[in-house]
Amino acid sequence: MTAHLIDGAAIAAKVRAEVAGLVAQRVAAGKSIPGLATVLVGDNAASQTYVRSKRKASAEVGIESFGHELSKTATQREVEELVVQLNADRRVHGILVQLPLPGGLDEEKVLAAISLEKDVDGFHPINVGRLAMKGRRPLFVPCTPAGCLVLLEEAGAQFRGAQAVVLGRSNIVGLPAAMLLLHRDATVTICHSRSRDLPAICRSADILIAAVGRAQMVRADWVKPGAFVIDVGINRIEDAARKSGYRLVGDVAFDEVKEVAGAITPVPGGVGPMTIAMLLRNTLRGAELADERAVALAAS
Ligand code: GUN
Repeated sequence: MTAHLIDGAAIAAKVRAEVAGLVAQRVAAGKSIPGLATVLVGDNAASQTYVRSKRKASAEVGIESFGHELSKTATQREVEELVVQLNADRRVHGILVQLPLPGGLDEEKVLAAISLEKDVDGFHPINVGRLAMKGRRPLFVPCTPAGCLVLLEEAGAQFRGAQAVVLGRSNIVGLPAAMLLLHRDATVTICHSRSRDLPAICRSADILIAAVGRAQMVRADWVKPGAFVIDVGINRIEDAARKSGYRLVGDVAFDEVKEVAGAITPVPGGVGPMTIAMLLRNTLRGAELADERAVALAAS
């Protein structure tokens, strides 16, 4: 059997088009242009590329972006002061501090300084706490796991009562992905580098999200026939046939797993484009939240 290929690029394009339409509508109605502030600290090449892509995608849907770059020697105070300034800036509806921060900076404190209503990454401890609690709803959900769920929905996955396995326990992907699956009534197992018998745990999954950052770790015999497999990994491996000398692969051994899974995301072109699409959706939501606050203030 060959799995259905979940086309993240096409699904992300659909989300971006929806956002572009809604942005155009609100601007035509005299409302504010949604604004995204990006904060890049240091000179991590991958982070620079990600931030550039996020700003380009923003411009394409009519979202204004404000890029802020600080040197790798920036102090905790400088980073927090920038966040405080962006919290107060009425043109800014979303603040994205690209992670990881250079060593020596306290990520937890920086994320906690971001206004809850502008936390388009969903990393503020209150948004994370709400996501982790039953019956509570965060204002924003982290972009990559939110994108994984959209891909699963589009591919026709049923969540209620399904066995879902999340491979990886990062704050950015694994943990929030598990919470989102739990909110959808899946039975969720989170596994990680210390878990015993990973292949057997993964084989129990109707839905498998791999987010460990280890090239092609998930093999065909780790996958239940017909399972939905979402591959979050982006890993470089050597490839002498390429001019660059490398190619990108996921955490899943795609060529063999596609013969077993029911549906699978490719790398690249799977989860990656969804992260940016969900960020744009969250930024639009940030602008809508600001409108709601303005209406409430006027009525009070
Ligand atoms: N680093 C890797 N993924 C992300 C993300 O989704 N948001 C931010 N801010 N940093 C990241």
